[in-house]
Amino acid sequence: MEILYCFIVFLVCIFSTIVLKYMSMKFTSKTHLFLPPSPPSLPLIGHLHHLSSDLSKSFCTLSSKYGPLLRLRLGFYNLFVVSSSSLATEMFTTHDLAFSGKPKSVFEDSGLFAESGIIMAPYGDHWKFMKKLCVTQLLGAQQIQKTKRVRREELEQLLRRLVDKAHKKELVDISSEMLRTTNNGICRMVMSTRCSGEDSEAEMCRDLVKSAFELAGKLMIAKMFGPLSKLGYWVNGKKLEDVSRRCNDLLERIMNEHEQRAKRNDDHETQDKDLMNILLQVYKDERSEFKISRSIIKAFIMDLFIAGTTTSADAIVWVMVELKSHPKIFNKVREEIESVVGKSGRLVEESDISKLPYLQAVVKETLRVHPPGPILPRQSREDCRLGNFYIPQNSVVFLNS
Ligand code: HEM
Repeated sequence: MEILYCFIVFLVCIFSTIVLKYMSMKFTSKTHLFLPPSPPSLPLIGHLHHLSSDLSKSFCTLSSKYGPLLRLRLGFYNLFVVSSSSLATEMFTTHDLAFSGKPKSVFEDSGLFAESGIIMAPYGDHWKFMKKLCVTQLLGAQQIQKTKRVRREELEQLLRRLVDKAHKKELVDISSEMLRTTNNGICRMVMSTRCSGEDSEAEMCRDLVKSAFELAGKLMIAKMFGPLSKLGYWVNGKKLEDVSRRCNDLLERIMNEHEQRAKRNDDHETQDKDLMNILLQVYKDERSEFKISRSIIKAFIMDLFIAGTTTSADAIVWVMVELKSHPKIFNKVREEIESVVGKSGRLVEESDISKLPYLQAVVKETLRVHPPGPILPRQSREDCRLGNFYIPQNSVVFLNS
């Protein structure tokens, strides 16, 4: 009996060792690493109850409790959150290529932005070509220099509006004034369009980007609930169609106008090329190393509005807010500016910026404390190790900046 008892204990030991070995193999078979920690979750909603409307802040609270690399489940949507600069550096240096994937856009299955411009384009020939085009032509130093006048005029218009309101003792909504300025600036630099009047194309673009953002939010929430995702597209179908049609009509009209003007072969126009001119030239170039379609051009233009308007406007507003609450720093910035531009009332030029290191530091610190794009999404293209954890292929990783 005793021998039988010993034999059973022996079998249990062997069995549990095999089970434990198998369980650990699930995590370590490839990398000998475990998945990152995960806070307690609820059935169905997963970790949604841990999040507030300020996603970045919620991630920050969670990471201070559970560590700089988290695994979360929002309904049916799984993701990882990186919240430390050392892991972010590792992600964008050692594992740059592994994390160069982009998660599928919520618009991918709809007509709106079905093609990517650059922001949501996955790593590959398309993204590499657009990146090269941005660096060498579209957003390169030469093109930025050429459009200096546009930014200067928009700045002067902004100051005139502010002075006018001050004379009338009217309140100023500084956020919307800044957004109007950056939006008009981008609109003129990108497609030389009208910026005032009833049919302002700049206003239309801003309205379209705002509607697209609202739709993206709704579709994202629907996507978190897996099978309900299709319902989200169905409920928002009309709005999607409407935004998609308006976006397409507006950009197609502007493209046609550019093409007509190019046909007239105006010398002055060829000198003063805007980004749309450059993109259409690449579109027509038979020898181009990558063929861009009209939809790619439209998506790229919308990308510029998404990437360049709210970001810049928010950054400027935050710099003003921080200077207002730090008078000593404000005075130091004023002194530095006066030492460079004098007290004659001349405006700061872009060429003065290199002589204003303290102002540059203030802007950089503000961007660090209030990043206009607080969350950068990426998708892992292969299994990899981040810190001491294992990130499986095709995982969505949010970088909480
Ligand atoms: C304060 C202002 C801005 C901030 C803080 C900012 C920040 C960023 C960041 C962090 C990224 C990287 C996103 C990622 O890799 O996922 C990015 C990408 C990009 N930004 Fe900006 N940006 C600003 C203004 C602008 C402006 C004015 C433009 C153009 C008019 C612009 C065009 C782009 C483009 C085209 C990309 C995509 C590049 C790529 O996919 O490789 N940004 N921006």
